[in-house]
Amino acid sequence: MELLKTKVKDLLKMEAGAEVLAKGWVRTKRGNKEIAFIALNDGSTIKNVQIVVDKNADTEPVLAKIGTGACIGVRGRLVESVGSGQAVEIKASEITVYGECDPMRYPLQKKDTSFEYLRTVAHMRPRTNTFGAVLRLRSQMAFAIHEYFHSRGFVYLHTPLITASDAEGAGQMFQVTTLDLENVPRNKKGKPDYTKDFFGKQTSLTVSGQLEGELGATALGEIYTFGPTFRAENSNTPRHLAEFWMIEPEMAFYDIKENMDLAEDFIKHLVRYALDNCRDDIQFLNDRYDPELIGRLESVIGTDFVRLEYTEGIKILEEAAKNGVQFEYPVFWGADLQSEHERYLVEKHFGKPVILTGYPKDIKAFYMKQNEDGKTVRAMDVLFPKIGEIIGGSEREADLGKLEARIDELGMSRKNLEWYIDTRRFGSCPHSGFGLGFERLLLFVTGMQNIRDVIPFPRTPKNAEF
Ligand code: 4AD
Ligand code: MG
Repeated sequence: MELLKTKVKDLLKMEAGAEVLAKGWVRTKRGNKEIAFIALNDGSTIKNVQIVVDKNADTEPVLAKIGTGACIGVRGRLVESVGSGQAVEIKASEITVYGECDPMRYPLQKKDTSFEYLRTVAHMRPRTNTFGAVLRLRSQMAFAIHEYFHSRGFVYLHTPLITASDAEGAGQMFQVTTLDLENVPRNKKGKPDYTKDFFGKQTSLTVSGQLEGELGATALGEIYTFGPTFRAENSNTPRHLAEFWMIEPEMAFYDIKENMDLAEDFIKHLVRYALDNCRDDIQFLNDRYDPELIGRLESVIGTDFVRLEYTEGIKILEEAAKNGVQFEYPVFWGADLQSEHERYLVEKHFGKPVILTGYPKDIKAFYMKQNEDGKTVRAMDVLFPKIGEIIGGSEREADLGKLEARIDELGMSRKNLEWYIDTRRFGSCPHSGFGLGFERLLLFVTGMQNIRDVIPFPRTPKNAEF
């Protein structure tokens, strides 16, 4: 009978005795005159399986072809390991070399494996222990997100990537066009004639699936989106990407408090899932880079998040500034909080995550429910240690008149938004939602320092390689 390949992850849990077939990439080869030891990794786990090969006239020519990075298949018996570090190893009886790897040209020399350098070597990056761990965690987190909502009866709604509306009203959209930029058709006013464009109007990549998500929620009850979003903001920070993934649940009949409850439960569930299901990878990242990682993850799960009004938050920050804390950006009522302010509240003042609510309406998007004071809106930002804002959300303005007035006040085009405003005309309902930045979550869960290093192919200003 043909022997099927077993993943290294599963091999390492098996009892000695079985005949097995493993396939993967060589991490190291060492040995003595009689025996060679090969550490083989197949990406299924951070752990390698040790291959033991007797050196003789048959195996020497094969072993000569095998160096770090080579791709091989190994058939052999699983035996108890005499060495420490693993319970079982494979005593090889047959080795197939699928792809040699020239040691002289191997791009991963020990001397330069900085994250910046690795970003330039696309094929090697996922083969490192660090990115293997990060990418497995990323996949596990995506699964946990779907599972969380699925098990609570939320409908997964696919919102469009190409859109004509700027949901956040921040004017940071990437235009999508098939017009010939060398020869743009013009209308009578001399402006580009978008009626000639592919969609017959000006379109862009979406900055958020929320507006379409609201149409789903006000029919299906509870929905979530999970997809890529695009922002042409020129922010070269360790927390911004031009292409990032966002999870946006939207719930009919939730007020701001229920929205906060869901956000807190959701994010705690995800962190707990990571600790329970990705322990080896998290342990590796903890031991290698960030000895406080596991402690930080556990502390978030075990604590009630602080819920604080923006106005109170500003008072705390003003007090801190008065007492000598140096902030780069000024603090005053009405200011948009910078990550330094958010992190001060979370890391220094409270020592735990904070949900900030009641923001000034002028620094938030048009769709947020207006408070009675006429100055603030029912926004909520969830602020996390090391990250700052990880979630942004709000209760939505359900009142037709107030929504229209706000759109006009901001000088936005009502015409483009009629399809959205219709939800308030025909059976409007109170509802709320939020957006979790997937890579910000991964920054937190992995302890990585730069958001470029938690996504396989980062897109940032002046960088769209691969
Ligand atoms: O606060 P934001 O802009 O909110 C929205 O887009 C709402 N439509 C969400 C909603 O209510 N449905 O973005 C939400 C989250 C932020 O808290 C942050 O975690 C992440 O998305 N985010 C980014 N992540 C990486 N790079 C960027 N440039 C990001 N911009 C926002
Ligand atoms: Mg925000």
